[in-house]
Amino acid sequence: MLAVYASKIDPQDPLSGLEVGDRPDPEVPDGWATVTVKAASLNHHDLWSLRGVGLGEDKLPMILGCDAAGLDEDGNEVVVHAVISSDSWRGDETFDPRRSLLSERYQGALAEKVAVPRTNVLPKPPELSFEQAACLPTAWLTAYRMLFTRGKVVPGQTILVQGASGGVATALTVLASAAGVRVWVTGRSENKREQALKLGADEAFESGARLPERVDAVFETTGKATWGHSIRSLKPGGTVVVSGATTGDPEPAELTRIFFLQLSVVGSTMGTREELERLMRLCVDRDVRPVIHSTLALADARQGFEAMLAGDVVGKIVFTV
Ligand SMILES: NC(=O)c1ccc[n+]([C@@H]2O[C@H](COP(=O)([O-])OP(=O)(O)OC[C@H]3O[C@@H](n4cnc5c(N)ncnc54)[C@H](OP(=O)(O)O)[C@@H]3O)[C@@H](O)[C@H]2O)c1
Repeated sequence: MLAVYASKIDPQDPLSGLEVGDRPDPEVPDGWATVTVKAASLNHHDLWSLRGVGLGEDKLPMILGCDAAGLDEDGNEVVVHAVISSDSWRGDETFDPRRSLLSERYQGALAEKVAVPRTNVLPKPPELSFEQAACLPTAWLTAYRMLFTRGKVVPGQTILVQGASGGVATALTVLASAAGVRVWVTGRSENKREQALKLGADEAFESGARLPERVDAVFETTGKATWGHSIRSLKPGGTVVVSGATTGDPEPAELTRIFFLQLSVVGSTMGTREELERLMRLCVDRDVRPVIHSTLALADARQGFEAMLAGDVVGKIVFTV
């Protein structure tokens, strides 16, 4: 089958290990199901994998991709939940120390077929296209959990989203705005800031700009480049919710300001199957749709990886099969 996979790891030149070509169909252990992929989406996670973060040489070749929507073995329209927990785990699967994401231990979703545990196959709402549904399981689920489970934001609060254009950042903006939260974003370019305003942000600022007032919570996926600004932008008692560090670990960590102003630093990772179901219901009921930058054929996946590496993307890149 056609698949997009990592053939080697290179932290400096991640695309040198990217291949688009033929791979065997995935193995299907007992209790697992095969999904015929109609659409799959790209995440920064796929670039990390090519750099060797979360993916070891011993696992190569590895089909990339966490997110897919397609057809189950009976022809039902489905969405794949990307968090694979161990058989014995009960409860919130993001707390399972042995969990993995598709494409870390098991072959990923950027392919004609993907195999996952049956419990990871969810019905796709008919209101969402395959392309829209394929955006939800990683970036949008992460944003949902950051906001509502870990960040506990409520209507009327003001939040800051660092980075206007990313897959997670655009989801944070759209979901928080739909929930009645006042959303401020930072963006590195005029175009990205304008796009954020169109997505529902109330105000958009240059990266690092002084804000009109301090905010209740900051949502971080960028790390080093924005951390100091995030901490300085919080009200006393405020919360920074972090799910990524694209530009690396921050230095300094701003511990003095954190304890003196009694700030909370809250980590967040992916989400549960139930949260994915609630996210899909929210999208349908509130007419919220994922932000799609471009849709490409799976065979042209390299173009999508190049665009993400260049940082020249607003929203999600989707591949159709
Ligand atoms: N923990 C989890 O479960 C989880 C889930 C999903 C993602 N993540 C992580 O979250 C991060 C974002 O993922 P994504 O898929 O949304 O990536 P993406 O679509 O490539 O988004 C990149 C984002 O990073 C910002 N950015 C990049 N370099 C920057 C810099 N030098 N200064 C300021 N901002 C910069 C961009 O802001 P501008 O708009 O200003 O360009 C943009 O918002 C990744 O590190 C990913 O691994 C973690």
